[in-house]
Amino acid sequence: MWPSWWLWSLVSLCTADEFLDQAKRIMKNTPVIDGHNDLPWQLLKRFNNQLQNPKADLNNLADTHTNIPKLRAGYVGGQFWSAYTPCDTQNKDAVKRTMEQIDVIHRMCQKYPETFSCVTSSAGIRQAFLEGKVASLVGVEGGHSIDSSLGVLRALYHLGMRYMTLTHSCNTPWADNWLVDTGEDQAHSQGLSPFGKSVVREMNRLGILIDLAHVSVDTMKTVLKLSQAPVIFSHSSAYAKCRHQRNVPDDVLQMVNQTGSLVMVNFYNDYVSCNKKANLSQVADHLDYIKKVAGAGAVGFGGDFDGVERVPSGLEDVSKYPDLVAELLRRQWKEEEVKGALSENLLRVFEAVEKASNHMQTPEEEPIPLEMLEVSCRTIYGYSSASPSFHQQSGTLLASLSLSLFFLCLL
Ligand SMILES: *[C@@H]1O[C@H](CO)[C@@H](O)[C@H](O)[C@H]1NC(C)=O
Ligand SMILES: *[C@@H]1O[C@H](CO)[C@@H](O)[C@H](O)[C@H]1NC(C)=O
Ligand SMILES: [Zn+2]
Repeated sequence: MWPSWWLWSLVSLCTADEFLDQAKRIMKNTPVIDGHNDLPWQLLKRFNNQLQNPKADLNNLADTHTNIPKLRAGYVGGQFWSAYTPCDTQNKDAVKRTMEQIDVIHRMCQKYPETFSCVTSSAGIRQAFLEGKVASLVGVEGGHSIDSSLGVLRALYHLGMRYMTLTHSCNTPWADNWLVDTGEDQAHSQGLSPFGKSVVREMNRLGILIDLAHVSVDTMKTVLKLSQAPVIFSHSSAYAKCRHQRNVPDDVLQMVNQTGSLVMVNFYNDYVSCNKKANLSQVADHLDYIKKVAGAGAVGFGGDFDGVERVPSGLEDVSKYPDLVAELLRRQWKEEEVKGALSENLLRVFEAVEKASNHMQTPEEEPIPLEMLEVSCRTIYGYSSASPSFHQQSGTLLASLSLSLFFLCLL
């Protein structure tokens, strides 16, 4: 009796290792590009962004999901680092805080040049792969970061922002967030206001990836119809697998397929299992599901590491991506499909966004209407002479003047 037991255990052990070995072999040349990591937020909270603090040493940083040895063990070759500022900074110091988070990402690249390479293009990512570095990109999480200004949007592009999540978990004056779908917030923009549409056009023109994580379903659909280039969900999972409004519903997954867009699966337990507990196998279920509904070209990874308190057992930190890839191989994903999910799908979308961009085209200039802004702590330069209400007034004046002239002529 015991020899067969022994043999069976040995066989299953070898098979497990075989998939993990295959995963690592694939990831050596095709490392993972993850859509969303909140290490910069941890650096702010723990060290007030002082990277010279000995405790902030990214080689030894403990108690975080992310540090340099873990990134290496996880075959992470590309990371969109989140430049995140919470919703309570909206209409306050959101722009300053966003710029400081972008700055700390740049300083990470400067302090650890052997590990990180800050890049701003798909070609830059490929170059970092060849150099064995973690291609580091800036993703701005939340449209409140531009303070309803196309000028700020463009300036952040020049600072390296290559995606912007249109909202965090609050409405902006021009786009609705997912809490509208739970009834906790009210819809203000019916998805996207006219100004919101000009933000999307400007992102297309510049070549910034549009990120639909955190937005309402109406916003998702409006943008998927409007955008001239594919979009991403940088950290969202499948609604059919866990009915949380942060996840992507099936009809939107169809649109993701039709537009060649990408869903980078979030590992947060609450979005994976709708429960405080979750495991690696349930994350693989989301990947399987999105692959089935939207296609293998529509799947990616957006772990949300260091942005959430609970992560699945088996996916405790960024070193665990090879285990997830091994699970996909165990589920008979083809090598090409795995490579797509790891980095090729993101590179395809990024290249399409770059191709659709056109810096020669005239920039969007129409400012948001003044009445859409909370004005209590801001100046209104520009608006005072050019506001629609002034035009209206002068228009009315002109009309009454010509009317008087008309009557004068009648006499
Ligand atoms: C993962 O969790 C699910 C749901 O609790 C459970 O059915 C499954 O056996 C778990 N898988 C592993 C490998 O632990
Ligand atoms: C969309 O679906 C079609 C048909 O299932 C599939 O051939 C195609 O690869 C999918 N697109 C993506 C981006 O996966
Ligand atoms: Zn988020």
